[in-house]
Amino acid sequence: MSRFFALRLWLDGLAAVLLVFGLSYWWLGNVAHELAGTLMFLLLIAHNVFNRRWYGNLPKTRREPRSLFNILVTGGLLLAMLALLATSILISNALASFLPPWGGFTVRQIHTVAAYWVLVIVAVHLGLRWPILMGLARVSFGIRGTSPIRTLILRAVTGAVAVHGVWSCLDLGLGMKLTMQMSLDWWNFEESVAGFFIHVGAIAGLVMSGTYYTMKLIDFARPGRRPSRDAQPVPTTVSP
Ligand code: HEM
Repeated sequence: MSRFFALRLWLDGLAAVLLVFGLSYWWLGNVAHELAGTLMFLLLIAHNVFNRRWYGNLPKTRREPRSLFNILVTGGLLLAMLALLATSILISNALASFLPPWGGFTVRQIHTVAAYWVLVIVAVHLGLRWPILMGLARVSFGIRGTSPIRTLILRAVTGAVAVHGVWSCLDLGLGMKLTMQMSLDWWNFEESVAGFFIHVGAIAGLVMSGTYYTMKLIDFARPGRRPSRDAQPVPTTVSP
């Protein structure tokens, strides 16, 4: 793993953190929310510039389940992010004096629904790249060899996060948020701030691990399978 690629992964992590911060609007307040969102979009523009070759290689992509699913997810993510960006501009307080008053109630609703879809789709996007992220974790902690006990502990933690994630989906009313149903049960940040972030993290963990293990099953079930690039372990040393 090159130093530059490791830096890119840290920037991806920052974008993910900013996305989660953005969801806590009623804790951050408007100014911090708009700043976090703007920085996230700038990081995502850079992210797509770094990954521009992927778009160029699309016509040559192997027609196998993982690659086709990856294309579908990236396309969905692009649409959801564009919806989030367009509605952000329309309802922005900072831009309000420069734009016509188009940011009504419906636009705000589309903005919220797009934000929660982005959370879910980004988690799928990360689940598809889990070996890359594990590679970064190994580099960061200086881990080289394998250890059955460590694997067992990590799988147990993943299982616990996934179970918590199911509860978090119910507690945050994720289904209602994704289907644009009206709900009055907004998270009460005066009661707990950490609770909200734990719920969002657990939902992301549930979706990521669900994606990772589903893709593993699909790869395993394919006759004459050849693991794709994203399913392979990555080098665990950093080269300049
Ligand atoms: C917070 C949001 C996001 C996070 C955390 C994230 C994370 C990642 C990570 C870790 C990778 C692999 C390493 C890399 O190339 O940097 C990746 C690859 C990629 N991402 Fe994202 N991403 C996000 C949003 C997006 C968006 C909005 C798009 C546009 C649709 C996008 C398109 C891509 C593409 C095209 C690749 C390369 C795919 C491949 O090689 O298979 N990402 N992303």
